[in-house]
Amino acid sequence: SLPVPSVQEIVRNGFQSIPERYIHENKDLPISVNLSDSELQIPVIDFSLLAKGDKDELKKLDFACKEWGFFQMINHGVREEVLHKMKAAVSSFFELPLEGKKKYAKEVNEIQGYGQNFVVSEHQKLDWSDMIYLITVPPQNRNFKFWPLSLPGFKEAVDEYSREIQNVAGELYANFSVLMGLDRDGLERLQGELKQGIRMNYYPVCSRPDLVLGISPHSDGSTFTLLLQDDDVNGLEIKHKDAWIPVKPMPNSLVINVGDATEIQSNGMYKSIEHRAMTNEEKPRISIATFVFPDDEQEIGPLDSMINDSHRPRMYRNIKYVDYIREKFARKMEGKAHTDFV
Ligand code: SIN
Ligand code: FE2
Repeated sequence: SLPVPSVQEIVRNGFQSIPERYIHENKDLPISVNLSDSELQIPVIDFSLLAKGDKDELKKLDFACKEWGFFQMINHGVREEVLHKMKAAVSSFFELPLEGKKKYAKEVNEIQGYGQNFVVSEHQKLDWSDMIYLITVPPQNRNFKFWPLSLPGFKEAVDEYSREIQNVAGELYANFSVLMGLDRDGLERLQGELKQGIRMNYYPVCSRPDLVLGISPHSDGSTFTLLLQDDDVNGLEIKHKDAWIPVKPMPNSLVINVGDATEIQSNGMYKSIEHRAMTNEEKPRISIATFVFPDDEQEIGPLDSMINDSHRPRMYRNIKYVDYIREKFARKMEGKAHTDFV
């Protein structure tokens, strides 16, 4: 059974007032700034230009990762039909009755499966969302116990999406290698191929979006994260210059952000930025976050090419990736940091 209730179910059953555990104090809810100013929208990167080796686009990527840690990726090559099927598969999963979804419930000490965002204590504030997390790459790490295989089209949709997204991730990885002073295969040679996990989030409507958070502020532990979301429902906000800035979805694009692993490898040149998700009164929202990350046993640390004793001294120690993630969770338990799983 689920450690905490399904929010979708709370909403379906109706309620008088928002349950106390979901109410975030005002101090946790810094004002969102709606910046119409175009220079305050996250940068847009054209994947097709990067893939052609366009030097100016590579510079734009460098700027985006230094100044924002987030960007919209257009012309990423994942077919529209594949995006559409993936979103449809995720919707159809959340449309299953609760009993149907619970068959895939997370178990104790398991990160995969259906449930809620990382819950570590009875006192912790809860987020206004449900989710299912599945490891997708490498294929031998899949645990089909947590996959709704009887849901028509689900597996096919995830297979295709996962494969096409992995191509985008691979090309980006090659570009990051170059930006960090290696050749295109440098990061892969050092770290092996990236693994992949997909977290599918469902944010039910909320009558008091001012009191709750869809997902609390956190940074991602990944190398980077690729987010697919509804074209017409806002929700994601990122921390930029001490303000929370809403990211407006661009149809058919992916929102990509730098994760902690890249921040560490780049010796802090690229930033893993805090972000959160808001809810709204009118429409449920679905978002699909694909995390790419190194193998558990891989040691990560600032690349030699990113350390310079005179003007960029080493800022992070080397650590085995699995230990990094464990420590990140532990810090969350002490309430010191906002974290996420990968
Ligand atoms: C996430 O941070 O994993 C999800 C953000 C979103 O739903 O936009
Ligand atoms: Fe995240």
